[in-house]
Amino acid sequence: SRRVTTQRLLEMKQRGEKISMLTAYDYTMGTIVDRAGVDIILVGDSASNVMCGNITTLPITLDQMIFLAKSVVRGVNRALVVIDMPFGSYQGNSKEALASAIRIMKETHGDCLKVEGGEEILESVKRILSAGIPVMGHLGLMPQSINKYGSYAVRAKDDSEADKLIRDAHLLEEAGCFGIVLEKIPAKLAQRVADELTIPVIGIGAGGGVDGQVLVLHDMVGLNQDFSPRFLRRYANIQGIMNEAIGHYVEDVKSGDFPNEKEQY
Ligand code: KIV
Ligand code: NA
Repeated sequence: SRRVTTQRLLEMKQRGEKISMLTAYDYTMGTIVDRAGVDIILVGDSASNVMCGNITTLPITLDQMIFLAKSVVRGVNRALVVIDMPFGSYQGNSKEALASAIRIMKETHGDCLKVEGGEEILESVKRILSAGIPVMGHLGLMPQSINKYGSYAVRAKDDSEADKLIRDAHLLEEAGCFGIVLEKIPAKLAQRVADELTIPVIGIGAGGGVDGQVLVLHDMVGLNQDFSPRFLRRYANIQGIMNEAIGHYVEDVKSGDFPNEKEQY
């Protein structure tokens, strides 16, 4: 099947066809997610938590994101690959942001980038876009700003934060972003943003009224089970399957059952 492009995502929204998006942080997971038919693969900075065991997304570096993204891109034939710009690589000034963006694109061969924030980072977004790099926005709960919020609670429940979010979404669209992720906000607000914007709005914990959904792969297949927000639907218990398999392996090694006659040279 044809490769997914930002243009095709826009057409999907126009047709009312929902967009599926999942994370991947390595080659093997990238191949699995791509072959299963997901439209967008996000090399998320959630890798900081999921892959590195950090408590927040802040510590992951540009070099580390580039290493992960290169591996994912090698495994993907169909999906659009979006790479998160890590904390600190685009907030300083637009020149630094562009330098970071160019490094990611040159070294990973990914398709596009994602950044958190609206008005505050608009100059950086515009400068990256003007270099011909497609950019996806990310509003609502922005994990790179967790130290400002102090919690991972639902965002934009009050009018002033909701109004700012709506303004930011329009600013990002007008700047030329090809899509926006909305994380953990009321479903009604998310639907309003999706209705007002022409570009696709992808939600995580943002209800069913948006143009597509994104989840963290390790959470939705139950590889990681330390995280159970209301918005997460768990489609498998891979951690359970691995526990059992590894338990049997340990038993077989201890008992001498593995390897058997056929499993040696
Ligand atoms: O890093 C990530 O996984 C994300 C998604 C939750 C949207 O940004
Ligand atoms: Na992210």
